[in-house]
Amino acid sequence: MKHNEQSWFFYIGKIIPYLKKDKWLFMFGLFAMLLTSGMRLVDPLILAHIIDKSIPRKDMTDMLRYGGYFVIVIIISGILSYLQIILMSRLGIKIITNFKGNVFRHLLKAPLSWFNTQPVGELIAKVESDSERVKNLFSDLSIQVIGNIIFFVGVYVILMIKSSRITLLMTAPAIIIMVSYYFVVRYLSKYYRRIRELYADITAKITDFVQGMQVIQVLNQQQKVFNHLSKSSSSKKAMDTKASFIEYGMQGVFAFVFEVLFVIIIIKVSAPRIIIGTMTIGTLFVFIQYIFKLMWPLMNISENVMQIQRSFVSLKRILDLTALTTEEEIHTGSKIPLFEHEIRFEHVWFAYKDEDWVLKDVSFSIPKGQKIALVGASGSGKTTTVSLLCGFYQPQKGKILIDDVSLDDLDIYLWREKIGLILQDIFLFPGNILENIRVYNDEVSIKDVKKAVNIVQLDDFIQNQASGLQTELAERGQNISQGEKQLISFARALAFSPEVIIMDEATASIDPQTETRIQKSMERVLENKTAVIVAHRLTSVLDANQILYFRDNEIIHRGNHNELMSTCEDYKRLVELQMLSSSTEDTIETI
Ligand SMILES: Nc1ncnc2c1ncn2[C@@H]1O[C@H](COP(=O)(O)OP(=O)(O)OP(=O)(O)O)[C@@H](O)[C@H]1O
Ligand SMILES: [Mg+2]
Repeated sequence: MKHNEQSWFFYIGKIIPYLKKDKWLFMFGLFAMLLTSGMRLVDPLILAHIIDKSIPRKDMTDMLRYGGYFVIVIIISGILSYLQIILMSRLGIKIITNFKGNVFRHLLKAPLSWFNTQPVGELIAKVESDSERVKNLFSDLSIQVIGNIIFFVGVYVILMIKSSRITLLMTAPAIIIMVSYYFVVRYLSKYYRRIRELYADITAKITDFVQGMQVIQVLNQQQKVFNHLSKSSSSKKAMDTKASFIEYGMQGVFAFVFEVLFVIIIIKVSAPRIIIGTMTIGTLFVFIQYIFKLMWPLMNISENVMQIQRSFVSLKRILDLTALTTEEEIHTGSKIPLFEHEIRFEHVWFAYKDEDWVLKDVSFSIPKGQKIALVGASGSGKTTTVSLLCGFYQPQKGKILIDDVSLDDLDIYLWREKIGLILQDIFLFPGNILENIRVYNDEVSIKDVKKAVNIVQLDDFIQNQASGLQTELAERGQNISQGEKQLISFARALAFSPEVIIMDEATASIDPQTETRIQKSMERVLENKTAVIVAHRLTSVLDANQILYFRDNEIIHRGNHNELMSTCEDYKRLVELQMLSSSTEDTIETI
């Protein structure tokens, strides 16, 4: 990650462009904030005037006039504070929406290798909660903090003018109260962090349990799951109760001390002055009013300081995400890929991590128009080989060449356009069948989609659906069968008219009829195409031009089916095993 050691100024600098976009909103919000804070200062002064001037003079007109001013000030400050909240919240929402958009756009460009090292679900949840905090920085927090600071300064100036002695006397206890409250808030923040962790833990558990509901139900473990959750939830409850007890208890104590202590000090100091006439009752009233108005903002300031700190940590975390090295920065090649002759792997070595080699000195060539099959045990490196060919990862040693040009020098996006990739784990997106086949790309016409559907022989299936291609698929395609999912993934690869088909066959067992159907579709999909097939069902490789047999991260044998039958003992055993299983299936079928 870049920018790790940047200062806060760097991050503030990063927000300014977002603020600039909405500078009028920001200005208006700030202006409303200034006025509201000013207004909050004025109303005690108006009442003081009534107490000190209008009442002693028994001047009813003056009293009514100032009473009217008081009402106007209250109404205007109400309207303004409403306006300020609306404006600043809008600003916060707008900024954060832009922000999240940028983060997601950036994540889409992050290399796959990065996603492998990140628990993405957790990350997205973090972005969500971090964004919420950054939003508060603009809306609630800025309103409270800037507003309160203006208010404090105003109050301080007015009180100093009215009576500097009393004001100075009150300053010390005010600071003591503020600092001690800060420590209480800091102590509490540990509890709140723990509560948030427990909450995240409970949410993650519920998500997992819901997704694995079938397993839980079939193994009849509902009660265990419930107990498991109850345990987490009761520790959260205990923590919540304790935190609220401390928080509200301390708030009560502070409020009491604040009000009582200050009112006693003021009355003690001002009473003799009022008696000898050097101070008015109105001034005493102003002091008491200000104290009540200052109490919560003063206490909140400790909380606000911590919230601002947290918001900045969140801001930093989000900005760090947008500073991630993108695929564009990794793939700097710009040559236009031409694939006329062959794809070649030359002494390719690859490890996901350090020197744990997943591919060791892998070399092979795929002449255009040929069909190559990768066969071998689980974990021997087949999927990794095709991932390298798609440029999802870079080999540490060796080269992948397309017509003698290294993949590093090619424009990877144009190269990927030539590939139709059918993954081992079929992924279906939320949406209808059409969107799933063309993966939101409108450039692929409905005609192309229909053609692809026809080649993979899915027409009947789609016609039988209530809304044809527009039929919505359930989450992760739960409302269709494994075989249908596979055929949709074939159609997806075909709709983009690729030159090279890469198919990582799923190991999921399918009934023999569907298997035959998939087999037939596959033959049609691969017609006249260069193909790399990771094959688990050996029926798919019988006619391959070359079979690469992987074991322990190396290609140990290569040749066509007949050649491997005589040279590769492992392959022969695999074929015999599968023949055995298919003959058993045949027997079952005939029974
Ligand atoms: N994203 C990854 N990060 C780290 N290691 C990985 C990753 N993907 C695969 N591996 C490891 O690399 C090795 C090869 O995995 P690969 O997926 O290429 O096997 P495969 O031959 O496709 O197996 P299968 O037949 O089960 O699909 C395995 O040991 C696996 O644990
Ligand atoms: Mg695999």
